[in-house]
Amino acid sequence: MKGLILSGGKGTRLYPLTYTRAKQLIPVANKPVLVRVIEAIREAGVREVGIVVGPTAAEIQDALGDGSEWDVALSYIHQASPDGLAHAVKISQDFLGDDPFVMFLGDNVIEGGISGLIRDFADKQWNSQIVLKEVENPSEYGVAKMRPDGSIEQLIEKPKSPPSNLALVGIYMFDHHIFEAVNAIKPSARGEYEITDAIQWLIDHGYMVFPHIHRGWWIDTGKPTDMLDANSHVLEEITPCLHPTAAVDSDSSVDSRVTLQAGAKIVNSVIRGPTIIGKDTLIENSYIGPFTSIYHGCQILGCEIERSIILENSSVVDIDSTLRDSLIGRNASVKRSDGKPSGIKMNLGDHSTLWV
Ligand code: DAU
Repeated sequence: MKGLILSGGKGTRLYPLTYTRAKQLIPVANKPVLVRVIEAIREAGVREVGIVVGPTAAEIQDALGDGSEWDVALSYIHQASPDGLAHAVKISQDFLGDDPFVMFLGDNVIEGGISGLIRDFADKQWNSQIVLKEVENPSEYGVAKMRPDGSIEQLIEKPKSPPSNLALVGIYMFDHHIFEAVNAIKPSARGEYEITDAIQWLIDHGYMVFPHIHRGWWIDTGKPTDMLDANSHVLEEITPCLHPTAAVDSDSSVDSRVTLQAGAKIVNSVIRGPTIIGKDTLIENSYIGPFTSIYHGCQILGCEIERSIILENSSVVDIDSTLRDSLIGRNASVKRSDGKPSGIKMNLGDHSTLWV
C-alpha cells in the first residue's frame, strides 16, 4: 500500500494568506494541515508516500524534506499545471506502480484518522473505495448516488441539483485499474481531469466501487472560515500539555485545556482553553479565549483574542475591542494608533478583509 497526497493548486480562496504560502502549510492548532495528513497516513501503516506539488513545490519540499521526521519516505511528483485530481493520479503512475494506494487531498482535515478505512479496503476485493459524508451543502463537492446494494451508481462533481447529500471527502482508495480510467477520460467543462469522472469510468466498466461513510467531522480547508472551524475541532481533540521551558508567572491563570509550546511566556494574563500558544510567543496583560491558536514567535500585548488563528512572528498590541473569528498571517502587526487625526489606518494586502 502506498500513499498519494495532492498538494498542487494555488489556494485562491484563501487569499491573501496563500499569495505567499502553500495553503496546505497553514497550521491548524499550530501544525500544518499537510503534516496532519502525513501523520494520518503513517498511523495507518503506510510508509511510502508521494506528494503531488505545483507552484508552491519549493516551500513544501523545504517544510517536509525527505519525510524522515514522520517516519515516511516522501517522493515529490511535479505537476506542471493544476489540470485536475485525475491528472495528478495520471502523472503519479511511475511512483505508484501496481500497488494499491490511498489518495488524500492535502487540504482536508478529518476526525479519527484512516486506519479503519485502509483495513476495510485491504480485506475486500474492491477496485476503489471512496469516503462519503452527509453534508448540508452538497453542491460544493463531488456527490454520490448509491444503489440499493450499497455500491456507488453515480458520481457528479459540484452538481447544481445534487442527487443526494453524500459528499465525497478528499480520501480515496484505488487499485491499479484507476490508471485505465484516468487515461481514458476527457477534461470536464471546467477544463480539469476530474477524479469523479475517472471513478465513474470504473463503475461504467464493471469495476467495484464501494463507499465508506464517515461519521465524524471533516473539513475541506478551502476558505478562512473553514480554517477556523478545523482549528476549533482539532484544539478540542489534542491532549493539552505545558512544555517544561514554557513559563507562566504568578499573576496569570492558565486552565487545564491550554497547550504551551517550548519557550512560550505568559505574563499577567488569562488563557482559557482549548487553546495553543506557540514556541517563544509572549502573551502579556492579555486574555486569550477558547479555540485560539497563536503560532511561534508572536507578541500579544494588552489584548483580548478569541477563536482566532495568528501565524508566526505577528504582533497584536493594545487593541481595545476583542479580536474574534480572525485569521492573521505571518509577520503581521495590529496595533493601536493614538495619533491625530483619529480613525482607522490600514495597510492591507490584496484580497484582505477587515471588519470594523
Ligand atoms: O474536499 C473534497 C472535494 O475535493 C471533493 O468533494 C471533490 O469531489 C473534489 O473534486 C475536490 O474538490 P475541490 O474543489 O475542493 O478541489 P481543489 O481544487 O481544492 O483541490 C483539492 C486538493 O488537490 C488541493 O490540496 C490542491 C490539490 N490539487 C488540485 C488540483 C485541481 C492538485 O494537487 N492538483 C490539481 O490539479
